[in-house]
Amino acid sequence: MNQYLDDPNVIAENKLPNRSFYVPQRQVEDQLVSESIDLNGTWQFHYESDARVSSVDLADKQLNIKDWDQITVPGQWQMQGYGHPAYTNVQYPFQIDVPNTPAENPTGYYVKDVELQKQADRRYFLRFEGVDNAFFVWVNGQQVGFYKGSRTAAEFDITDVLNNGRNRIGVQVYQWSASSYIEDQDMWWLTGIFRAVSILARPQNFIWDYFYRTSFNENYAQAEFKIDLSAFVADSPLAVKLELLDPAGESVLVDLFDLTDKITKQYQIDRPKLWNAEEPNLYRLILSTADEVIEQQVGFRTVAIKNDLICVNGVPVTFRGVNRHEFHEKFGRAVPHERVLAELKLMKAANMNAIRFSHYPEDPWVYQQCDRLGFYLIDEADLECHGIYETGDVNQISSDPLWTKPYLERMEAMIERDKNVPAVIIWSVGNESGNGSNHKLMIDWAKQRDPQRLIHHEGEFRYACDPETGGEQDVQWSDMNSSMYPSIADLEKTVHDPKIKKPYILCEYAHQMGNGAGSLQDYWDTFNKYPQLQGGFIWEWKDHGIEKVGADDQKTFAYGGDFGEVPNDYNFVIDGIIQPDLKPSPSYFDVQHVYSPIQLQLLPDQLAAHITNHYNFTTVSQVQVIFTVKNKVQDLFSETVTVENLKPGETRTVAVDPEQSFLQDSQTDLVLLVDAQYLEATDQTQHSYRVSRLIARPESETTPANTVDQFTKLPVKDFVRRYQFGEHLLKINQQTGSWQIVEAKTAEPIVSQPQQIFWRALTDNDFRVGKVWREFGLDRMVTEVRSVTIEDQQTDAIVLKLNETCGAAGKDWLIHSTIAYRFTAAGKIEIKVSGQPQGQMPATLPRVGLQFVQEGADAKTTWLGRGPRESYPDINNGTWIDYFDAETIPDLNFNYIFPQENGNHQETRTVEIQSDAGYQLGLSSQEPFSFSLKQNTIQNLDAAQHVTDLQKLDHQFLLIVDHQQNGIGSQSCGPEPMGKYLLKTEAYEYELVVEIKP
Ligand code: GAL
Ligand code: MG
Repeated sequence: MNQYLDDPNVIAENKLPNRSFYVPQRQVEDQLVSESIDLNGTWQFHYESDARVSSVDLADKQLNIKDWDQITVPGQWQMQGYGHPAYTNVQYPFQIDVPNTPAENPTGYYVKDVELQKQADRRYFLRFEGVDNAFFVWVNGQQVGFYKGSRTAAEFDITDVLNNGRNRIGVQVYQWSASSYIEDQDMWWLTGIFRAVSILARPQNFIWDYFYRTSFNENYAQAEFKIDLSAFVADSPLAVKLELLDPAGESVLVDLFDLTDKITKQYQIDRPKLWNAEEPNLYRLILSTADEVIEQQVGFRTVAIKNDLICVNGVPVTFRGVNRHEFHEKFGRAVPHERVLAELKLMKAANMNAIRFSHYPEDPWVYQQCDRLGFYLIDEADLECHGIYETGDVNQISSDPLWTKPYLERMEAMIERDKNVPAVIIWSVGNESGNGSNHKLMIDWAKQRDPQRLIHHEGEFRYACDPETGGEQDVQWSDMNSSMYPSIADLEKTVHDPKIKKPYILCEYAHQMGNGAGSLQDYWDTFNKYPQLQGGFIWEWKDHGIEKVGADDQKTFAYGGDFGEVPNDYNFVIDGIIQPDLKPSPSYFDVQHVYSPIQLQLLPDQLAAHITNHYNFTTVSQVQVIFTVKNKVQDLFSETVTVENLKPGETRTVAVDPEQSFLQDSQTDLVLLVDAQYLEATDQTQHSYRVSRLIARPESETTPANTVDQFTKLPVKDFVRRYQFGEHLLKINQQTGSWQIVEAKTAEPIVSQPQQIFWRALTDNDFRVGKVWREFGLDRMVTEVRSVTIEDQQTDAIVLKLNETCGAAGKDWLIHSTIAYRFTAAGKIEIKVSGQPQGQMPATLPRVGLQFVQEGADAKTTWLGRGPRESYPDINNGTWIDYFDAETIPDLNFNYIFPQENGNHQETRTVEIQSDAGYQLGLSSQEPFSFSLKQNTIQNLDAAQHVTDLQKLDHQFLLIVDHQQNGIGSQSCGPEPMGKYLLKTEAYEYELVVEIKP
């Protein structure tokens, strides 16, 4: 047994106590210069897959590293060609033999030679912001320290071993240690020095740590700014200058004092500008000593439970939240800062105001950006032992005294590092590790160390609600009830339970795996109804796909199993609202709309809407509400109403009253668009919000009777009846009922008999119901034509009626259906479909629709319906009803990393399709329908595991018109679609008109 690695209680050696994150600077003339020597960049690297038989010795001063490889720090070695990434969700990727991990322990040796001028009056500290998983440090052949704790910092005093001139820094990193049992977050297993490394050059004595807090009088007009400071050397007084600058850069406080060991100072600040996520006002604290300057962002704010609600500055807040992992498609958890910033801005643009750092403290730099941009943060300890659930005792580790010390250390390492971050308002004890006595100790410690923040522990509420442990009750140790993926019905039940009084948040909801999640607006309608529900955190921000570039330069994203790893949890790691390279998925826009703090609700039968301000703090000084009425060609009317000083929580009605004549006289479809455009204090969120509806539809269009074209009967050939009309030829097989319309001259096909379709390429969120659907044979339904009737006595219209049964071989249920086609000589096909399921049928169907196979490699589409992107019954908030066009078929679709149903367009009224094969078709119906166009078959889409498995049809595409699709829901890790979105297996009836355009 290697005690360092295998003993949970051997956590660190020679590591300095945890302290607040800051980078000391030095005043050089009027510039502040960082005192940090950056060790990021290229290091020499040697990899051993089994450390036991490695002969590398970092204590060897003569160690020859010339032939070693080079590796980039920060980075993860599996992303740079050593070993390979491996993905598991819950299960440990090694046998459960606590606290032992694989004996064959892959190990990376990192070496960097650093030139530096050692100054006699300085002390030197080697600091690591994050090394996964356990590591020893050497300086010039001397072992200076050890740490295991992958996502928190370790700092070592290396003054005594440092040379003036050349120095060799060596780091030996192990992939596995006892810590691996409590770092079992649902993510890729990745190893290495993945955050910054630096040497800090500091004076002999300096400010080691500080901790500020703010509190206020009743009306927040007067603040107390209180700060504890500690010196590195206890017994020599250090002259400190403390200055506080307000957000405008004006000095509001200057004090000079001596710091010996520890001191607490207290100051009064008048009328401070408060920090909250909407108005992230930051002060700057400058702590100077003779040789150093430390800068710290300060937010004046409080966090507390008041009247059973989570309040910031005394005001109840709502979390429009998201869970964020650190992930980059090429670098793993070593995410470059520009990328982080781009992510945070995308979050802001989606109207998010809160982030849960799931499930470990992030790179400290990220927190500073969150302070600045305005996000409430749940900072979560680096702790998850989900794999132990396999043993049946979820608290096997969490209640074991053997693990008390590492649990406490993780809480302490996080809180000490991040305690001065104003954005952090909640500490979380970790994720999916049960609810054990060690958690209680973590909470006790945190409450004593930082009584001014709140504690989150989802495991406690899970326990409190478990029927076996007493049924529903409030959490006692932590400050808020919190759960994952409850249904809306569950939420309703909980809020009505008199025993549940404490605030309730959803630390995870709306599982965004693949297409989905559905019902986001339903969740928010529920949150808005009950103040106790203070919002939630979407799971999750980003797909963790690893970029792979194929031979043909085609990019795909790898997921579990793609590196041959056993066991793995497949594509469960692809569950975000943006793709790894930041491409937003359709649900990003759904979230953006639902999270908008300014919301409009259209009123029926008028040009009017309710406008509501959902901010907690911001009075929106001005919103422009723009009403536009348009037809396909142009805007017919547009008027702007300005709403002023809309207070938090306030709703007003806005209306316009145009001369109605154009509404009544319209011969075409009219759309009402209402946009809210607003600017608000932080100037960072999305500034517009759009809703629309169809306001006028002419009575069914009266096409002038076609006097020119008549059907001319041609002789029947091989059972095929043939009718010429205009330039076209209609062919109907009187035996099989199949039909086709072609160009009379060239025989080029234009449109032919569609098939009823009930299957969709399963979405990730269909995965449970999908099994049922397959059991009922829905993925292999076959249509049998039972009778064919043709009425062709008229010369202007021909009617074809088919009686069909749709069913799957060997299954005792059928859909009896009738399809009637009325072909007119003017080029229209009026289709009426009805179906009646019978027998032992499934409760729901994936879809009810018609599939046409069309000639052409691609097509242009214009439509009146929901757009511009895909929509489904329970996920359509990122879309609105309007006239849209798409240049190509791919523009109508979205390539999910794991291929699945996509590209549906709900509430459509008319579609025009221009195939590159040279014909044009129109679709319309009096009832709204859905359409999609596909360049591959549904079977292909369903079977494909990566986008590279999709095979483009040969000069054909599918046109699918759905009467209805089943909702999407979030069953990949949550509830099925709500009842109102289910496509129940019941009788159906619908109509569609297909028109061949000249
Ligand atoms: C939660 C867990 C997350 C993630 C999610 C599913 O239970 O906390 O880490 O695994 O489920 O994607
Ligand atoms: Mg888990």
